[in-house]
Amino acid sequence: MTETILETQELKKYFPVRSPLLKRTIGWIRALDGVSFAIQRGEIFGLVGESGCGKSTLGKTLLGIYQPTQGKVIFKGQLISDLPKKAARKLRREIQYVYQDPGASLDPWWTTERLLREPLVIHTDLSRQEMDERIRRMIHAVGLEEEHLSRYPHEFSGGQQRRLALARILTLNPDLIIFDEPTSGLDVSVQATILKLFKDLKEAFHLTYLFISHDLSVIRMMCHRVAVMYLGVIVEMGPTEAVFAQPKHPYTKALLAAIPVPRVTPEQEEIVLEGEPPSPEHLPSGCRFRLRCPYAEEDPCSLREPPLEESDSGHYVACHLQEKVE
Ligand SMILES: Nc1ncnc2c1ncn2[C@@H]1O[C@H](COP(=O)(O)OP(=O)(O)OP(=O)(O)O)[C@@H](O)[C@H]1O
Ligand SMILES: [Mg+2]
Repeated sequence: MTETILETQELKKYFPVRSPLLKRTIGWIRALDGVSFAIQRGEIFGLVGESGCGKSTLGKTLLGIYQPTQGKVIFKGQLISDLPKKAARKLRREIQYVYQDPGASLDPWWTTERLLREPLVIHTDLSRQEMDERIRRMIHAVGLEEEHLSRYPHEFSGGQQRRLALARILTLNPDLIIFDEPTSGLDVSVQATILKLFKDLKEAFHLTYLFISHDLSVIRMMCHRVAVMYLGVIVEMGPTEAVFAQPKHPYTKALLAAIPVPRVTPEQEEIVLEGEPPSPEHLPSGCRFRLRCPYAEEDPCSLREPPLEESDSGHYVACHLQEKVE
């Protein structure tokens, strides 16, 4: 039995561009431009795409740090995008966010013990003894030692900081964890142990993950399903293996072709991505990928935005020329 834990419907987040002199809004950055997907309980759902495509904006909008411009976020059957701040804050315990740089999100003046205790003091009414017990459990769960409790965050390595950030989150018994580039800046061997730890903890604590990364090999290793984002929209989504073995969108093909050897898709035609994505403030008409797409045609690509449609079972793609591309 699958159960949808989190769902978005046509989620949009536009940031205003203000004129520095007149202080008026002179345009909009369309960081999220209509994103719909559903994550099942127990799943690791990946989100991949180039820098600036809106991955972190999506994570932060799900968490309620940003108010959506339009669209819905539904968590465990409850519409949370319209909740008042106080009610939203309560829900945030159940959805937690692991930041790109956990070192920066940990107060440098606090010991590990205090860092782990503080969320419990704020969000729970556990007794001191129960808190001690939970802190000890979490520190062991993430592979740190009790003697680490008296240390400060800067006294940890990058890998250990990841563990600490995770222990802090786990003390609150979340249901869903959003990881935002959780292994950036780690060397490959540490990265592998940290990823393994994430997987083990998911099983041990019955968690669900939204896993944001620009690194396709990490996504492939970790995720059951993946959504590929380009300039604020999902252009392809499906089971990870299907998307890697048979990418359908020219953008996904280009991303896969850019992975260093060994080639993931040896028999496939290579598309080389040229140039930078256009600014999310000035999107082209029609398909937003068309200016970088080798297949693009005037009609229909510049005329209409392609919708995300199911192509194979569970495998979705947003491309007018899908048959040609294959
Ligand atoms: N608070 C903000 N105010 C204005 N614009 C923003 C804000 N946050 C993000 N943006 C813009 O929204 C777009 C998406 O940014 P976002 O941080 O979501 O990208 P990303 O996919 O997480 O990139 P990266 O891989 O570099 O982390 C970018 O054009 C960015 O400049
Ligand atoms: Mg980001």
